[in-house]
Amino acid sequence: MNSSFFAKKPLSLLLEEMKGENRLRRVLGPVTLSSLGVGAIIGTGIFVLTGVGAHDKAGPALILSFAASGVACIFAALCYAEFASMVPVAGSAYTYAYATLGELFAWIIGWDLVLEYAVASAAVAHGWSAHFQDLLKSFGMYIPQSFSSAPIDYDLAAGHFFVTGSYLDVPAIIITAIITYILVKGIKESAVFNTTMVAIKLVIVLFVIVVGVFYIDPNNWKPFAPFGFTGISFFGHTLFGQTSADGVPLGMLAGAAIIFFAYIGFDSVSTHAEEAKNPQRDVPIGIISSLLICTFLYIAVSAVLTGMVPYDQIDINAPVSNAFAQKGLPMAQRLIDVGAITGITSVLLVMMLSQPRVLLAMARDGMVPESFFGAVHPKFRTPWKSTLLTGFFVATMATLLPLRILAELTNIGTLLAFVIVCAAVLIMRKTHPHAKRPFRAPWSPFVPIAGIVCCLILMFSLPVENWWRLFIWLGIGFLIYFSYGRRHCVTARIRRGEIVLPPEEINQ
Ligand code: ALA
Repeated sequence: MNSSFFAKKPLSLLLEEMKGENRLRRVLGPVTLSSLGVGAIIGTGIFVLTGVGAHDKAGPALILSFAASGVACIFAALCYAEFASMVPVAGSAYTYAYATLGELFAWIIGWDLVLEYAVASAAVAHGWSAHFQDLLKSFGMYIPQSFSSAPIDYDLAAGHFFVTGSYLDVPAIIITAIITYILVKGIKESAVFNTTMVAIKLVIVLFVIVVGVFYIDPNNWKPFAPFGFTGISFFGHTLFGQTSADGVPLGMLAGAAIIFFAYIGFDSVSTHAEEAKNPQRDVPIGIISSLLICTFLYIAVSAVLTGMVPYDQIDINAPVSNAFAQKGLPMAQRLIDVGAITGITSVLLVMMLSQPRVLLAMARDGMVPESFFGAVHPKFRTPWKSTLLTGFFVATMATLLPLRILAELTNIGTLLAFVIVCAAVLIMRKTHPHAKRPFRAPWSPFVPIAGIVCCLILMFSLPVENWWRLFIWLGIGFLIYFSYGRRHCVTARIRRGEIVLPPEEINQ
């Protein structure tokens, strides 16, 4: 392949750009960054997907699924933290890939991050709508059926799509519009709003653990792993563990691949590096502390949930609140519903905050048109045009496509991003051994290699159709890259001599 596809954005250029004028405001400290991380993490995954994870994939071994997924994320988080401390600019994994793996991989990961942030936001907006309607229902109120959900959904048992009889998911559109408005107004207001939401959802999660523990019956943990401890297939061929009748892998690892969604978001802290007061120190703190807090809480919640209700009686749609309903605690159920809505709102906030920042970084590199995606609002200092576009995209996806499809697509895309970031840490250690690393991932090369292996295992534990969807997504991305980014990106400008590099960077 043409080696210019692997042309790297020089580190010196990246660091030089950070001194430029068109920057975002530096207002975020370590607590706010950790809170943004927790805000992005605890949401649809723990409140909704634990149901499918325990009921259909892992049984009580869901507790280990959370531990396994958490371990994979911790390896990836350490790699993210190293990069975020080295290159503290907006753009996250995209920026790291451009500096280490080159133009083509940078594009792949930038495009892939749309799956992680925008498509995940659509899945999350969907979950918000479902919980909101559930709460309304408990007060005897209903949204007309025509405006209550996506027009199509997926029948898991039959293995095909069906028409729901609805036209639009109006609550999903409304919540997306509100969050978009808040985000256009500014990061500081967003961070205050987020901190309040995070506090509420943490209280509710602790409530679930502290109250739920009194309703645990240890007999519910037997058998502990009814579907086994693995569940890995390779493009539809089972390698380890059980497979369902329709060829989907089952077991503890298959559960881990689904509930991986619950961990997505810790890396979004790295997209705020440019708005951090002391990015080299605070961004690694934000990434690692938010992930550790959530791993601990998730293991506790899944232990309580599977201890309260036999795994085959766990509700698929609202598993946590329904467990309390099954124990005759309707007030607790309602409280958890409110907590779920709040928690999911803050996830949406952070995810939709992160997407425009990745696009901003790509625009500055010429990968996407800068006049649109690079525009920072003169008063609010936010990337307002791409925030509005993100809002439109999220609302459209959420209102038209079903939750499960969106969540699985998000998982495979995010896992791919993690694999690339871990690989990039390994490469950067070789190509720039003396670059300043305020935070270093420990025990290299073990940590990055373990991150790559763990994320690949989770990717192969997802149902195979997700691989095809990922390839189609990447195919669309290549069309855009070859028709625009390839000619306009910063490395193309270096090739044409429009940007002149210092001599020590020319042969890297
Ligand atoms: N981790 C986020 C959630 O579970 C995406 O909603």
